[in-house]
Amino acid sequence: MKRILITSALPYANGPIHIGHLVEYVQSDVFTRFLRLTGKKVIHCCADDTHGTPIEINAKKLGVTPEQLITKYYKEHTDDFKAFLIDFDSYYSTNTPENKKFSDFVFNKAKEKGLIYTKDVEHAYCESCKRFLPDRFVKGKCPKCGAEDQYGDVCEACNAAYDTVDLVEPFCTICKATPVRKSSMHYFFKLSALSQELYEWLTSNENLQKEIVNWVKNWIKDGLKDWDISRDGPYFGFKIPGEEDKYYYVWLDAPIGYIASTENYCRQHNLDAMKDYWTSKDCNIIHFIGKDIVYFHYLFWPALLKAADLNLPDTLLTHGFLTVNGEKMSKSRGTFLTARDFLKKCDPELLRFYFAGNLSRKMNDINLDEKDFKDRINNELVGNISNFAYRVLSFTEKNYGSKTVKIQQDALTQELESMHDEIRDLYERCDFREAVKRIAHYSSLGNKCFQENEPWNNKDKSHGVVSLCVNIVKNLCILLKPILPKRTEELERQLNLKDLKWTDLGFDLGEHQIGKPKALVEKIPETKLFEIGSGFSKLNIKVGKVLSVEDHPDAEKLYVLKVDLGGEERQLVAGLKGYLSKEEIEGKHICVVTNLEHAKLRGVESQGMLLAGEKGDKVQILTANESQPGDQVFIDGVKPKDEKIQFKQFQQIKMTIKGGKAFYEDSVLKTEKEEVACDIEDGAKVS
Ligand code: 2FM
Ligand code: ZN
Repeated sequence: MKRILITSALPYANGPIHIGHLVEYVQSDVFTRFLRLTGKKVIHCCADDTHGTPIEINAKKLGVTPEQLITKYYKEHTDDFKAFLIDFDSYYSTNTPENKKFSDFVFNKAKEKGLIYTKDVEHAYCESCKRFLPDRFVKGKCPKCGAEDQYGDVCEACNAAYDTVDLVEPFCTICKATPVRKSSMHYFFKLSALSQELYEWLTSNENLQKEIVNWVKNWIKDGLKDWDISRDGPYFGFKIPGEEDKYYYVWLDAPIGYIASTENYCRQHNLDAMKDYWTSKDCNIIHFIGKDIVYFHYLFWPALLKAADLNLPDTLLTHGFLTVNGEKMSKSRGTFLTARDFLKKCDPELLRFYFAGNLSRKMNDINLDEKDFKDRINNELVGNISNFAYRVLSFTEKNYGSKTVKIQQDALTQELESMHDEIRDLYERCDFREAVKRIAHYSSLGNKCFQENEPWNNKDKSHGVVSLCVNIVKNLCILLKPILPKRTEELERQLNLKDLKWTDLGFDLGEHQIGKPKALVEKIPETKLFEIGSGFSKLNIKVGKVLSVEDHPDAEKLYVLKVDLGGEERQLVAGLKGYLSKEEIEGKHICVVTNLEHAKLRGVESQGMLLAGEKGDKVQILTANESQPGDQVFIDGVKPKDEKIQFKQFQQIKMTIKGGKAFYEDSVLKTEKEEVACDIEDGAKVS
């Protein structure tokens, strides 16, 4: 039997896993579980992609070493995958000795074949940072349309593509200095020399998606450029053999991480990554990737594999992007959800079900739509499948002492039987969307059978038909195992069966004693799922400088403040007397909710509200002393609205103090310059 190696793209160890990533990991995990269920010898390997300039710079910014940063993300990523039931056989890292070994191996092989040469090239260099700047670290005016603040590769205003060195008035995004052009020796991989072989591979491989193959063929026809595979230090990566300050470009050693991860698996299973997978005739390699990295996986990577005499992928499965509520995921709309954000709102298996129900062998984008999501879960998964299982099993428990009987084959069992192969084919083609549709249909045929036979009217004569339905539930359990690993395990328990395999599909459960039934999935209630920070977005908070503090003429506990909000002066009434002296408030840069309905407090108008932390008998104001009057206070990913809100609504938006900073949920309140401070104990409420 052939071995199958499945890989998923390696996420950067520079940020959290988000639900966009999860489309792919769910897809590859469902596929791996399906293959395993049908008895295939399959492993699924992945790793963190740890090298490159952004990781190195980000670590520096955070005051940690790159190794510390990637260790933190390794832990986070593996925890997230576990939560979403993504079950890798090996989850490794590209910053490992194995990966260094294989990177050198591939590089040296290519060199032996004359596929590596060196050449001087000019790049943007920052003399104050003492480093070459990748595209994303240089900004300036677009050379075509003049739009400001554009990155060094493409203009977001006019879409023009250009070289970093062509930017007008360029600046280093790290220190704002003007970069110079500087020449340096780089290593190149002769991609052009492999054009013909790549073209043949693309043309002869039947498994590749046609639409992408055509696209890539055109790139080849237009002529491939050789690939710059080195970077100068400072860089976080592997040194090139024989060089002191030159490193492999991250995109060279990243896909080689697939091999390193395979080796990590092999070490623990007495196998050999090269012999048993990457050079074996009896191995199929399948890469799952997103459409943004097609160039790397259809050209660079197969070319490297050819150069190193390793197996080329048999299949590349390329999926589209995730949109949320029909639009690109967006921090300002609150729809940029990390895996963790999602976990706080919803059961991860439901997302697996939804993604599976939308995934096909196509590159189409997938839309996570709030209403559609709830409908699919509540109607299909709960209303149809889960309810059917519960109804059948509890009927069996109540009326037949939890026992089933042997059943006869009939027209229905034959119809269902024929669907098993159909669904298998759909899974095999990674057409999960159609597979889920067929499974839902399968369940509705079961429902119909139960309903039409009305066993509750004739319990004695209905044991057979109810037993047939139990068989259907068992089959559904098998059909759904790749998508819902936990729920189906629970269903196996209820069925009193273990480790069901694809070959257990059928109607020969015979005389069997089932376990205790329980509802499998609950309906999703009417709450907003895919918008985070939606409470906070109701507030428009600005920095205000306190110009004066007076006693309220008519109230013992109140002050009347005059505040400069940057070109606008407002009067606020605040209950701080007895807690803070006037001197402690005057001149401070405080946080003012500016869109609260104005109110009269004991006859004096308050045109907004200042924010303060409160715990026990202590009160402290929120301050942003480095910021200017009028500066916006915000949390990441949320844009303030400017509609007036009422005090009641304000009270529902809960903010707290942690470590001397103000928070909404897990997000710190800040301005462009600083995080908002409040000198009070943890757990103080903001009001
Ligand atoms: O685009 C990305 O997120 C890369 N980290 C994917 C690497 S996949 C493989 F080539 F390593
Ligand atoms: Zn700089």
